[in-house]
Amino acid sequence: MRIPLFSWLFLILIHYVSLSVHVFVVSSQCPSDDQQSLLLQLKNSLTFDSAKSNKLKQWKNGSDYCYWEGVSCKDGCVSHLDLSSESISGGLDNSGALFDLQYIENLNLAYNNFNTQIPSKFDKLTGLSYLNLSNAGFVGQIPIEIAHLTRLVTLDFSTFYFPRTPPLQLENPNLNVLLGNLSELVELHLDGVNAYGAQWCEAISSSLPKLKVLSLSTCNLSGPIDISLQKLRSLSVIHLENNNLSAQVPEFFSDFTNLTSLQLSNSGLDGTFPKKIFQVPTLQTIDLSGNQQLQGSLPEFPKNASLQSLFLNGANFSGQLLPNSIGNLKRLSKIDISTCNFTGPIPRSMEDLTQLVYLDLSWNKFNGSVPLFSMAKNLTLINLSSNLLTASGKLRTFPAFLRNQSRLVSLDLSENQIQGEIPNWLWNLSSLSQLNLSYNFLVALESPLLNLTSLSVLDLHSNQLQGQFPLFPPSAIYVGYSKNNFSTGIPPNIGDFLNFTLFFSLSNNNFNGIIPESMCSAPYLQVLDLSNNSLSGTIPQCLIGISGTLAVLNLRRNNLSGTVPDKFPERCSFKTLDLNGNQIGGQFPKSLANCTMLEVLNLGNNQIADTFPCLLKNISTLRVLVLRSNKFYGLFGCPKPHGNWSMLQIVDIALNNFSGEIRGKCLTTWRAMMGDDDDAMSELNHLRFGVLKFTGVYYEDAITVTNKGLEMELVKILTVFTSIDFSGNNFSGSIPEEVGQLKSLYDLNLSSNALTGAIPTSLSNLRHLESIDLSNNKLGGEIPAEFAKLTFLSFLNLSNNQLVGKIPSTAQLSTFSAASFTGNKGLCGMQLNITCNNPSEASNVKPNSGHHREINWGVISVEIGFTFGFGIAIGSLVLCKRWSKWYYKAMYNILLKIFPQLEERIGIHRRHVHINQRWKR
Ligand SMILES: *[C@@H]1O[C@H](CO)[C@@H](O)[C@H](O)[C@H]1NC(C)=O
Ligand SMILES: *[C@@H]1O[C@H](CO)[C@@H](O)[C@H](O)[C@H]1NC(C)=O
Ligand SMILES: *[C@@H]1O[C@H](CO)[C@@H](O)[C@H](O)[C@H]1NC(C)=O
Ligand SMILES: *[C@@H]1O[C@H](CO)[C@@H](O)[C@H](O)[C@H]1NC(C)=O
Ligand SMILES: *[C@@H]1O[C@H](CO)[C@@H](O)[C@H](O)[C@H]1NC(C)=O
Ligand SMILES: *[C@@H]1O[C@H](CO)[C@@H](O)[C@H](O)[C@H]1NC(C)=O
Ligand SMILES: *[C@@H]1O[C@H](CO)[C@@H](O)[C@H](O)[C@H]1NC(C)=O
Repeated sequence: MRIPLFSWLFLILIHYVSLSVHVFVVSSQCPSDDQQSLLLQLKNSLTFDSAKSNKLKQWKNGSDYCYWEGVSCKDGCVSHLDLSSESISGGLDNSGALFDLQYIENLNLAYNNFNTQIPSKFDKLTGLSYLNLSNAGFVGQIPIEIAHLTRLVTLDFSTFYFPRTPPLQLENPNLNVLLGNLSELVELHLDGVNAYGAQWCEAISSSLPKLKVLSLSTCNLSGPIDISLQKLRSLSVIHLENNNLSAQVPEFFSDFTNLTSLQLSNSGLDGTFPKKIFQVPTLQTIDLSGNQQLQGSLPEFPKNASLQSLFLNGANFSGQLLPNSIGNLKRLSKIDISTCNFTGPIPRSMEDLTQLVYLDLSWNKFNGSVPLFSMAKNLTLINLSSNLLTASGKLRTFPAFLRNQSRLVSLDLSENQIQGEIPNWLWNLSSLSQLNLSYNFLVALESPLLNLTSLSVLDLHSNQLQGQFPLFPPSAIYVGYSKNNFSTGIPPNIGDFLNFTLFFSLSNNNFNGIIPESMCSAPYLQVLDLSNNSLSGTIPQCLIGISGTLAVLNLRRNNLSGTVPDKFPERCSFKTLDLNGNQIGGQFPKSLANCTMLEVLNLGNNQIADTFPCLLKNISTLRVLVLRSNKFYGLFGCPKPHGNWSMLQIVDIALNNFSGEIRGKCLTTWRAMMGDDDDAMSELNHLRFGVLKFTGVYYEDAITVTNKGLEMELVKILTVFTSIDFSGNNFSGSIPEEVGQLKSLYDLNLSSNALTGAIPTSLSNLRHLESIDLSNNKLGGEIPAEFAKLTFLSFLNLSNNQLVGKIPSTAQLSTFSAASFTGNKGLCGMQLNITCNNPSEASNVKPNSGHHREINWGVISVEIGFTFGFGIAIGSLVLCKRWSKWYYKAMYNILLKIFPQLEERIGIHRRHVHINQRWKR
């Protein structure tokens, strides 16, 4: 609501005065029974929730309508009508009584849910000077009749929450036609309305000479920002964020002597930002964040500058913060210059900024030490993460000025070199909601952190913490203790602290003892990662039985024994179940078929004895199936119908006792491996981002696919990686022709089986193949000459078979050494130093060690990480209305920065494997 509080008080005061004096105003214009009955008709026609209504529900016969809530009059005529936030869900159309209240000047229907088009009869309300239909649920084209309201001073159609298609459209009439006669307009708010691109500057500058507020964020505008706007000297507010301007910022903005707010974030701006604009003395807010192509640096600010909010995060700003510049901004309350390219020291003069509330200097190249912000008593967010490039500038201790920041809500000191204990006094920061101390050298907590009763994000990962399990307050939504040195048990009553927890990771420590059953009582848990610890005992039945929320259960690499409880509930919500590397025996749990959203199933390196899990064959979301190194037996694949694993990317059933023929028909349902490059990838990308879009919070899952040579954990961000490993079983018969249909396969391992017959020439269709291992079988015949087409092949092992004839003398195959071919008695060729008997061919064979590529594939592990993620709803945090926009933004940024490992872990690149760059910032 834009009407200041005091005006309301004033209005109320007038009401009381006139009541007590009993003044009766009899109007010649408006017969009072007429106005009253129109209002009551209006009330009756509207659908509203009377439980949530404060105004309409009180309108009743028998009292003076001019004093009804939301109504005020001039000379007995209704002149002001405010039905904002009345939970109205319909009932406004052209026949409505509203349009007979002809003397209305001021109409506010904001924050309702009308869910219809804007009625065209608005042109009957010719006296309107203030019209507010913002966030009122109107949809479709804005009617031409609005253009006839020539007395309008304020027009507000803005919508904050826009789904994919904007609710309101300005196509016909377009912006030009709408504004053509509205020359009195002072405030124009069309945020979230689709204005269809170009020529908005002309439309505005030629029609609206008195304009002071121009708010056109998220309007689908395109550039440039036209010089004609220069005429609008009275502009005080310019909000054009979230458009696609692809334009430079014009210097004439600095001529607007009353400019107070300039918000241009995420608008695709480029060029260099004119420094003069920063120096406009009235300017209070400037937001250029997210314009990656926009260059600039900060000027000397004048001494009396008004600037309160400065947001440059993610824009390409650089240079130094001049000591007399930032320090002059005595009113500065919010500064976010994170993810820019600022260098040099952080000026001491910043210590004079007493009004600071929000301070984010992270991800720059500052050096030197951090100033004491001890004069700023009201700080709610401090982010000093990772900005101090020089080791000398990194924090070694907790800055003392934090001690008295009793209002601090968010503190991020990650990626510094803070050593020792987390001090007691930190827990006196009782407002703290987000705390990120990850990537430091912390060893312990001086005391438990239970009295931080507002804590929602607690990230202590990648330190050297040890000792007792640090209990956290039950308010915590995100708890990250991974990569520390804890070697204790998990408290049996841990469940009492997981009341609101969505994400809980203890991975990569040395936690021992059992998994407490109390964990199962966590009502909202989505990710539980206990991997890489020394936990023993069995998997609690109740953990498997958690229904509805748990999406990731990672118990990889512990000492768990027993069986997988066969208790997956009807509404199983698991997307990842990773039990790799334990001592779990028994049978494959049949009820896993209830987990119809399963994407990653990793039971590798256990002792499970069962047949191929055909009961999963209708889980079409499955992407990774790892049964490696267990005691599975019997035939591979499922009888007809063969199931629906169209998303499957990684299948590893190596080192089991599977036998019989490999049923080729089963492979043909694996469509993700069959597409050509582009279709397959785009399909998978699409799916992946579809799930992840909202919060961008990821959970990573590392899957060991094959494991040769060195132990090397590569956690990679892959949009697509496809692999089949059937090695180390007793498969017999020949390699099915159908393998040749898996056109986007990268990795094929059928080694150490009892396969016979010839190598199918169809294998040469696998154009993306990088690694193929058919060794230790009984394959016969010749190596197909078509192998020459496998141009990406960098690992080949055909050794120990019964292959015969000459190794095709192609450039590709000549790069492999003897090890790829040895153990085939009938094989000849230069790679083996064996001259083929056929003299005409033998002449082609010349050992040429110069062509041998010295790649030691035994050393380079083919261990592949597969990354998978999903969004975590931040639930109550995001929805809490009281959080102002900047605060929400802070939360959002923090959640993104909690996961910096996303970009750091991108290790060795493989050819043609797409690395997700989304989080490179
Ligand atoms: C700026 O605001 C002042 C005070 O409201 C006003 O007198 C002046 O005319 C405005 N300047 C312009 C260019 O509109
Ligand atoms: C920082 O500057 C470097 C070159 O100096 C440039 O490559 C990089 O993109 C810049 N980063 C940002 C965030 O603008
Ligand atoms: C801190 O906030 C309080 C209450 O919001 C306010 O009264 C006080 O003046 C502020 N202090 C400073 C230094 O801005
Ligand atoms: C936090 O707890 C410690 C010990 O339990 C206590 O000494 C301290 O006063 C508490 N702090 C607050 C702000 O409640
Ligand atoms: C959390 O849940 C446990 C048991 O489920 C309960 O005893 C405790 O009071 C709850 N705590 C809060 C803060 O709600
Ligand atoms: C699904 O879960 C229910 C309840 O636990 C169980 O009775 C049923 O057998 C499960 N379904 C399958 C296919 O296992
Ligand atoms: C092949 O012969 C060359 C030269 O005689 C020798 O250096 C090489 O080690 C031999 N390779 C094999 C696999 O025997």
